[in-house]
Parts: sequence; C-alpha cells; structure tokens
Amino acid sequence: MKIKNKIAATALAAVMAMSVTACGNAGSASSAAAENSAASGKTITVGVAQLVTHPSLDASLKGFQQALTDAGYVEGQNVIYDVQNAQGEQANCVTIANTLANKKPDLILAIGTPAAQAVAKVITDTPILITAITDPADAKLVASNEKPGGNVSGTSDKTPVKEQLEMLKTLVPELETVGFLYSSSETNSKLQIEWAKAACDELGLKYKDFTASNSNEVQQVTQSMVGKVQGVYIPTDNLMASNMKNVTSVTSANKLPVVPGAIGMVTDGGTCTVGLNYEKLGYQTGQMAIKVLKGEAKVGDMPIEYQDQLDVYYNSEAAAKMGMVLPDSITKNGQDALASAASSQK
Ligand code: TRP
Repeated sequence: MKIKNKIAATALAAVMAMSVTACGNAGSASSAAAENSAASGKTITVGVAQLVTHPSLDASLKGFQQALTDAGYVEGQNVIYDVQNAQGEQANCVTIANTLANKKPDLILAIGTPAAQAVAKVITDTPILITAITDPADAKLVASNEKPGGNVSGTSDKTPVKEQLEMLKTLVPELETVGFLYSSSETNSKLQIEWAKAACDELGLKYKDFTASNSNEVQQVTQSMVGKVQGVYIPTDNLMASNMKNVTSVTSANKLPVVPGAIGMVTDGGTCTVGLNYEKLGYQTGQMAIKVLKGEAKVGDMPIEYQDQLDVYYNSEAAAKMGMVLPDSITKNGQDALASAASSQK
C-alpha cells in the first residue's frame, strides 16, 4: 500500500529527526537559553494570535510551547505567553493585531491564516512566526515560501488533498460526486479546493461546491448536500472545523461519509482521514522561534517549513452510526481517533 509505505518511511524519518534533536540540540539549547535570559535578566514575551479553538490549532500552540520549554524558555520563569483567541471572528483578529502592536511582545506566533493575515498587516517590526497556514505565499503573508523576505516565516500545513480524496474513493465504492464543504471567505480553503478539483479530475470523480459564510449557515448547507453527493470532503477550513458537530449530525443521519483535511476533525465526528500531526508542526515552529530569539537567524531569511509525516485516523463510532464497515486498508494502517482523543495526535 502506498499510504502504508509512506507512513513507515515518514515515521522512520520522524524517529531519526527526533533522535537528532535529542542528542544534538535539546540539552545544549536548554542551557544556552537559560544562560541567555539569565545573562540579560530578561523575560521574553510571546504574543499569540490564534484564530479559533479547534483541536488542530490548539495542538499547534501546545507543540510550539513544548519546543520553547525544551530549550529552556519556561513559562512563568523566563517567558510569558500573551494568548489571544479571535473566536473565529475576523473583526477580533484585527483587534488582536492592534493590541499586540501596542504591547510590542518580543515575538509573535500567529495560528491560522486569517489571524496571521491580520497580524502581518499591522505589525512589520516584530518577528512573526506563523503555523498551520495552508500556503503562506498564496495568503500573501510572505513574498515567497522559499524566501519570505520580511518579518514573517514559519510552517505550512499543506494538506495531502489527493491522498485524502483517494481515501474517500476507497471508502465509498459507489462514489460518483464528491461534495466540497467549506467557508466562502477563507483563502486557505479556496486553494485546497482548487487542489481537490484537480485531484478529482485525475481520479475520475465529479464534484459540487457547498459553501457557508458563517456558523449559522453550516447545518443548512450541509443538509443541502443530501441526495446530491455520495461523500463529503472538507479541507482544513476553520469555520467547518469549529462546527464539526453541526456538520456530522446531518451527515451521520443521512449516511454520508466525511473525509476532512485534518485528524482533529475526525476526532470531532469525521469518518477518517490521512493527515498531519499539528503538535509536531507547532514544535517545528517553536524551533524556528528559538533561532530567532537567540539571534541565530532572521525571520526573513528562513524558508517556510513543511512536515511530511502523515497518519491515518478513523472514527469507529462515526462509522458505526452510519452502519458502515471501514475497509481493512484504513483500519489496519490507521488508529481510532477516539481511542487516542486524549493524546496529542491532532
Ligand atoms: N490550514 C488552516 C489555515 O491556514 C488552519 C488549520 C490547520 C485548520 N488545521 C486545521 C483548519 C484543521 C481547519 C481544520 O487557516
């Protein structure tokens, strides 16, 4: 199986990367950071602009903070996190951006495309690390992903859209038309839907768009898919991710399988997916931040980084509700999202 090989290879790469970190970095970084802040007597402030609360974005922040802790930046001792959550509202993103501009933290972490766009627009003199961003260049956060140039860099969560649609095809043998469910105002989603359309063309699948512009519309738009599609694909769309319960109450009742862009959305009721580990992505972003804090690198010179470990997850309860038996290719290669919901694999 393609997915299995990929997972084995990427898992191995991840283990290798982790051991490099363990013996190469962690110890010395930790004492260096401690010395740094001890020498300067300075407590660092990290301003965080998070778009909304959902498992993937929460996991990114957790991973970021873990990287800093591992390098000796300990919360309450020599680092303070000023965490601001926009609750999914664009207007709040702008307010948060202005608040952070006034407070002048040493570094900013922006999580989710709309939050990053708001912050980058008004703050040009503080290093901004971004994470969980589908495509920073497409979102106009950086001049190019290879050479950001300004005061913004970080990690992309470019989703394996084609693998996800292949999974939907395996899951639903009678699949003819895929329903794309997403928000009409997120550039990250529009881009993923372009990729999804190209993938469907290659896979010989038809598709139809279903978009909502706010959370009040989510349930009704989902309902309008019934009878028109045999399977649903949702990209890493922040509006849908924070309304998964409303989506899946409709899809389960109508026996419509859902493959979402992220593992956390499977935990929240999606059927299955192959996706990234956001905690690791956040950790990687934290490691970039440490280089900036230590003056070892300038944000503008750091290329956008990616993460290529993919994990297969399924939701046994969601499948059972639809009377669906998941194919072996998914259950044998994957993990039950509910069994590991308490863990950090989101
Ligand atoms: N990629 C999304 C963005 O650029 C953020 C995101 C990450 C996300 N993981 C997700 C959205 C999971 C929905 C579900 O804004």
